[in-house]
Amino acid sequence: MIELVKTSDGSNTLFSSKYNQHFHDTKTGAIKESLTKHVIPALQYHKQSKELNILDICFGLGYNTLSTIYYILENNLDIKLNIYSPELDLNLVNSLEEFEYPKEFDNLKEIIKEISKNKSYKDKNLNIKLFIGDAREYIKSLKNIDIVYQDAFSLDVNKELWSVEYFKDIYKACKEDAIVTTYAVSTNIRLSMNEAGFEIYEIKPVKKKQTIAFKNKQNIDAKYIDIELKKQRNKIARPIYDKQTFN
Ligand SMILES: C[S@@+](CC[C@H](N)C(=O)[O-])C[C@H]1O[C@@H](n2cnc3c(N)ncnc32)[C@H](O)[C@@H]1O
Repeated sequence: MIELVKTSDGSNTLFSSKYNQHFHDTKTGAIKESLTKHVIPALQYHKQSKELNILDICFGLGYNTLSTIYYILENNLDIKLNIYSPELDLNLVNSLEEFEYPKEFDNLKEIIKEISKNKSYKDKNLNIKLFIGDAREYIKSLKNIDIVYQDAFSLDVNKELWSVEYFKDIYKACKEDAIVTTYAVSTNIRLSMNEAGFEIYEIKPVKKKQTIAFKNKQNIDAKYIDIELKKQRNKIARPIYDKQTFN
Protein backbone atom coordinates (compact mmCIF):
# COMPACT_ATOMS: atom_id res chain seq x y z
CA MET A 1 0.00 0.00 0.00
CA ILE A 2 1.25 3.40 -0.97
CA GLU A 3 -0.26 6.78 -0.08
CA LEU A 4 0.22 10.20 -1.69
CA VAL A 5 1.49 12.92 0.69
CA LYS A 6 2.08 16.65 0.08
CA THR A 7 5.41 17.86 1.54
CA SER A 8 6.17 21.31 3.01
CA ASP A 9 7.51 22.77 -0.28
CA GLY A 10 4.28 21.78 -2.07
CA SER A 11 5.79 18.80 -3.95
CA ASN A 12 4.24 15.36 -3.56
CA THR A 13 5.85 12.26 -2.14
CA LEU A 14 4.59 8.82 -1.11
CA PHE A 15 4.28 6.95 2.15
CA SER A 16 5.20 3.27 1.82
CA SER A 17 3.42 0.99 4.26
CA LYS A 18 5.78 -1.85 3.29
CA TYR A 19 8.71 0.15 4.72
CA ASN A 20 6.51 2.27 7.05
CA GLN A 21 8.29 5.36 5.77
CA HIS A 22 7.91 8.40 3.53
CA PHE A 23 10.00 8.51 0.36
CA HIS A 24 11.17 12.01 1.33
CA ASP A 25 11.61 14.15 4.41
CA THR A 26 8.18 15.81 4.45
CA LYS A 27 9.42 18.76 6.55
CA THR A 28 12.15 19.67 4.07
CA GLY A 29 10.03 18.91 0.98
CA ALA A 30 10.61 16.37 -1.78
CA ILE A 31 12.18 18.52 -4.49
CA LYS A 32 13.99 20.73 -1.99
CA GLU A 33 15.51 17.68 -0.30
CA SER A 34 16.60 16.24 -3.62
CA LEU A 35 18.21 19.48 -4.80
CA THR A 36 19.87 20.56 -1.55
CA LYS A 37 21.06 17.18 -0.23
CA HIS A 38 22.02 15.44 -3.44
CA VAL A 39 22.07 17.39 -6.69
CA ILE A 40 23.67 20.70 -5.67
CA PRO A 41 26.50 19.27 -3.50
CA ALA A 42 27.34 16.69 -6.17
CA LEU A 43 27.22 18.99 -9.19
CA GLN A 44 29.13 21.75 -7.43
CA TYR A 45 31.85 19.27 -6.55
CA HIS A 46 32.01 18.15 -10.17
CA LYS A 47 31.52 21.60 -11.72
CA GLN A 48 34.45 21.20 -14.13
CA SER A 49 33.09 17.97 -15.61
CA LYS A 50 31.52 17.73 -19.07
CA GLU A 51 30.16 14.22 -18.64
CA LEU A 52 28.98 12.52 -15.46
CA ASN A 53 28.06 8.94 -14.58
CA ILE A 54 25.49 8.99 -11.80
CA LEU A 55 24.27 6.10 -9.68
CA ASP A 56 20.85 6.97 -8.22
CA ILE A 57 20.11 4.59 -5.29
CA CYS A 58 17.18 3.96 -5.66
CA PHE A 59 14.85 5.38 -8.32
CA GLY A 60 11.57 5.49 -6.33
CA LEU A 61 9.71 8.51 -7.71
CA GLY A 62 12.85 9.58 -9.55
CA TYR A 63 13.22 12.97 -7.86
CA ASN A 64 17.01 12.78 -7.75
CA THR A 65 17.33 11.92 -11.43
CA LEU A 66 14.71 14.50 -12.46
CA SER A 67 16.09 17.26 -10.19
CA THR A 68 19.55 16.70 -11.69
CA ILE A 69 18.18 17.26 -15.21
CA TYR A 70 16.12 20.24 -13.99
CA TYR A 71 19.20 21.82 -12.33
CA ILE A 72 21.34 21.36 -15.45
CA LEU A 73 18.71 22.89 -17.75
CA GLU A 74 17.93 25.73 -15.32
CA ASN A 75 21.61 26.68 -15.02
CA ASN A 76 22.46 26.11 -18.70
CA LEU A 77 25.21 23.67 -17.77
CA ASP A 78 26.94 21.89 -20.61
CA ILE A 79 27.10 18.43 -19.07
CA LYS A 80 26.24 15.07 -20.58
CA LEU A 81 24.61 12.71 -18.10
CA ASN A 82 24.58 8.92 -17.85
CA ILE A 83 22.25 7.93 -15.03
CA TYR A 84 21.97 4.38 -13.69
CA SER A 85 19.23 3.63 -11.20
CA PRO A 86 18.04 0.36 -9.65
CA GLU A 87 14.51 -0.01 -8.29
CA LEU A 88 12.75 -3.08 -6.88
CA ASP A 89 9.21 -1.87 -7.41
CA LEU A 90 8.12 -2.31 -11.04
CA ASN A 91 4.50 -1.25 -10.31
CA LEU A 92 5.73 2.01 -8.86
CA VAL A 93 7.81 2.84 -11.96
CA ASN A 94 4.90 1.87 -14.22
CA SER A 95 2.67 4.31 -12.33
CA LEU A 96 5.01 7.33 -12.57
CA GLU A 97 3.52 8.51 -15.86
CA GLU A 98 0.43 9.50 -13.83
CA PHE A 99 2.29 10.91 -10.80
CA GLU A 100 1.69 14.58 -10.01
CA TYR A 101 5.20 16.07 -10.01
CA PRO A 102 6.07 19.70 -9.06
CA LYS A 103 5.95 22.41 -11.74
CA GLU A 104 9.77 22.38 -11.94
CA PHE A 105 9.43 19.08 -13.82
CA ASP A 106 6.85 20.36 -16.35
CA ASN A 107 9.46 20.33 -19.15
CA LEU A 108 10.46 16.76 -18.26
CA LYS A 109 7.08 15.14 -18.98
CA GLU A 110 8.31 13.28 -22.07
CA ILE A 111 11.29 11.92 -20.16
CA ILE A 112 9.06 10.77 -17.28
CA LYS A 113 6.65 9.09 -19.69
CA GLU A 114 9.43 7.25 -21.48
CA ILE A 115 11.11 6.11 -18.26
CA SER A 116 7.81 4.87 -16.89
CA LYS A 117 7.07 2.94 -20.10
CA ASN A 118 10.50 1.72 -21.22
CA LYS A 119 12.62 1.98 -18.04
CA SER A 120 15.12 4.01 -20.05
CA TYR A 121 15.52 7.31 -21.90
CA LYS A 122 18.11 8.50 -24.40
CA ASP A 123 18.81 11.75 -26.25
CA LYS A 124 21.94 13.68 -27.23
CA ASN A 125 22.90 14.66 -23.67
CA LEU A 126 21.02 12.22 -21.56
CA ASN A 127 21.18 8.47 -21.11
CA ILE A 128 19.02 7.06 -18.31
CA LYS A 129 18.87 3.35 -17.53
CA LEU A 130 16.70 1.86 -14.81
CA PHE A 131 17.27 -1.65 -13.52
CA ILE A 132 14.19 -3.34 -12.11
CA GLY A 133 15.55 -5.61 -9.41
CA ASP A 134 17.86 -5.69 -6.42
CA ALA A 135 20.37 -2.84 -6.18
CA ARG A 136 22.85 -5.18 -4.48
CA GLU A 137 23.18 -7.27 -7.63
CA TYR A 138 23.08 -4.33 -10.03
CA ILE A 139 25.89 -2.30 -8.43
CA LYS A 140 28.36 -5.15 -8.99
CA SER A 141 28.02 -4.55 -12.75
CA LEU A 142 28.87 -0.83 -12.63
CA LYS A 143 32.15 1.06 -12.97
CA ASN A 144 33.46 4.61 -13.46
CA ILE A 145 30.73 6.24 -11.36
CA ASP A 146 31.27 9.96 -10.56
CA ILE A 147 28.28 10.55 -8.27
CA VAL A 148 26.27 8.27 -5.98
CA TYR A 149 22.96 9.53 -4.62
CA GLN A 150 22.63 7.23 -1.58
CA ASP A 151 18.91 7.63 -0.94
CA ALA A 152 17.59 4.28 0.30
CA PHE A 153 15.00 4.01 3.07
CA SER A 154 16.51 4.19 6.55
CA LEU A 155 18.79 1.60 8.12
CA ASP A 156 16.12 -0.02 10.31
CA VAL A 157 14.00 -1.03 7.30
CA ASN A 158 16.46 -1.14 4.37
CA LYS A 159 19.58 -2.58 6.01
CA GLU A 160 20.94 -4.24 2.86
CA LEU A 161 21.64 -0.81 1.37
CA TRP A 162 23.75 0.47 4.30
CA SER A 163 26.12 -2.41 5.08
CA VAL A 164 29.90 -2.53 4.78
CA GLU A 165 29.62 -5.15 2.01
CA TYR A 166 27.22 -2.92 0.09
CA PHE A 167 29.48 0.14 0.43
CA LYS A 168 32.49 -1.95 -0.67
CA ASP A 169 30.69 -2.65 -3.96
CA ILE A 170 29.79 1.04 -4.25
CA TYR A 171 33.46 1.91 -3.61
CA LYS A 172 34.58 -0.46 -6.38
CA ALA A 173 32.05 1.05 -8.82
CA CYS A 174 33.30 4.60 -8.14
CA LYS A 175 36.01 6.60 -9.90
CA GLU A 176 38.86 7.94 -7.76
CA ASP A 177 37.22 11.40 -7.50
CA ALA A 178 33.63 10.26 -6.94
CA ILE A 179 31.27 11.83 -4.39
CA VAL A 180 28.58 10.02 -2.40
CA THR A 181 25.72 12.14 -1.05
CA THR A 182 23.32 10.95 1.65
CA TYR A 183 20.84 12.29 4.18
CA ALA A 184 22.08 9.74 6.73
CA VAL A 185 24.22 10.94 9.65
CA SER A 186 24.23 8.02 12.09
CA THR A 187 27.62 6.92 13.37
CA ASN A 188 26.89 3.28 12.48
CA ILE A 189 26.35 4.22 8.84
CA ARG A 190 29.41 6.46 8.76
CA LEU A 191 31.47 3.59 10.24
CA SER A 192 30.15 1.28 7.49
CA MET A 193 31.10 3.74 4.76
CA ASN A 194 34.53 4.30 6.29
CA GLU A 195 35.13 0.56 6.72
CA ALA A 196 34.51 0.24 2.98
CA GLY A 197 37.20 2.86 2.33
CA PHE A 198 35.36 6.20 2.21
CA GLU A 199 36.48 9.41 3.94
CA ILE A 200 33.51 11.03 5.66
CA TYR A 201 32.49 14.71 5.66
CA GLU A 202 29.50 16.60 7.01
CA ILE A 203 27.64 19.55 5.50
CA LYS A 204 24.48 21.40 6.49
CA PRO A 205 22.93 22.85 3.34
CA VAL A 206 19.52 23.41 4.99
CA LYS A 207 18.44 22.88 8.56
CA LYS A 208 19.65 19.28 8.83
CA LYS A 209 23.18 17.93 8.78
CA GLN A 210 24.04 15.37 6.12
CA THR A 211 26.95 13.21 5.00
CA ILE A 212 29.11 13.36 1.88
CA ALA A 213 31.87 10.83 1.25
CA PHE A 214 34.93 10.48 -0.99
CA LYS A 215 37.64 7.95 -1.71
CA ASN A 216 40.32 10.43 -0.64
CA LYS A 217 40.69 13.29 1.85
CA GLN A 218 39.43 16.60 0.44
CA ASN A 219 40.22 20.26 0.77
CA ILE A 220 36.60 21.42 0.75
CA ASP A 221 34.21 23.56 2.73
CA ALA A 222 32.86 20.69 4.86
CA LYS A 223 33.53 19.27 8.31
CA TYR A 224 35.87 16.26 8.26
CA ILE A 225 34.58 13.43 10.42
CA ASP A 226 37.49 11.76 12.19
CA ILE A 227 36.23 8.19 12.38
CA GLU A 228 39.03 6.99 14.70
CA LEU A 229 38.02 9.69 17.19
CA LYS A 230 34.35 8.74 16.80
CA LYS A 231 35.24 5.12 17.61
CA GLN A 232 37.11 6.18 20.75
CA ARG A 233 34.25 8.39 21.91
CA ASN A 234 31.41 6.07 21.01
CA LYS A 235 32.31 2.53 22.07
CA ILE A 236 28.86 1.18 21.23
CA ALA A 237 28.67 2.26 17.59
CA ARG A 238 29.57 -0.47 15.09
CA PRO A 239 29.74 -0.74 11.32
CA ILE A 240 26.80 -2.69 9.91
CA TYR A 241 27.55 -6.05 8.28
CA ASP A 242 25.16 -8.15 6.17
CA LYS A 243 25.40 -10.91 8.72
CA GLN A 244 25.83 -9.28 12.08
CA THR A 245 28.06 -11.13 14.55
CA PHE A 246 27.94 -10.30 18.24
CA ASN A 247 30.70 -10.93 20.73
C1 LIG B 1 13.58 6.37 -0.04
S1 LIG B 1 12.95 5.64 -1.50
C2 LIG B 1 13.85 6.44 -2.80
C3 LIG B 1 13.46 7.84 -3.02
C4 LIG B 1 13.83 8.31 -4.38
N1 LIG B 1 15.16 8.80 -4.44
C5 LIG B 1 12.80 9.30 -4.88
O1 LIG B 1 13.16 10.37 -5.32
O2 LIG B 1 11.62 8.98 -4.82
C6 LIG B 1 13.74 4.05 -1.54
C7 LIG B 1 13.44 3.25 -2.79
O3 LIG B 1 14.31 2.13 -2.77
C8 LIG B 1 13.64 1.00 -3.27
N2 LIG B 1 14.40 -0.16 -2.76
C9 LIG B 1 14.51 -0.57 -1.47
N3 LIG B 1 15.37 -1.61 -1.37
C10 LIG B 1 15.84 -1.85 -2.63
C11 LIG B 1 16.76 -2.78 -3.18
N4 LIG B 1 17.40 -3.68 -2.42
N5 LIG B 1 17.01 -2.72 -4.52
C12 LIG B 1 16.37 -1.82 -5.32
N6 LIG B 1 15.48 -0.92 -4.84
C13 LIG B 1 15.22 -0.92 -3.52
C14 LIG B 1 12.23 1.15 -2.75
O4 LIG B 1 11.32 0.39 -3.53
C15 LIG B 1 12.03 2.67 -2.87
O5 LIG B 1 11.45 3.00 -4.08
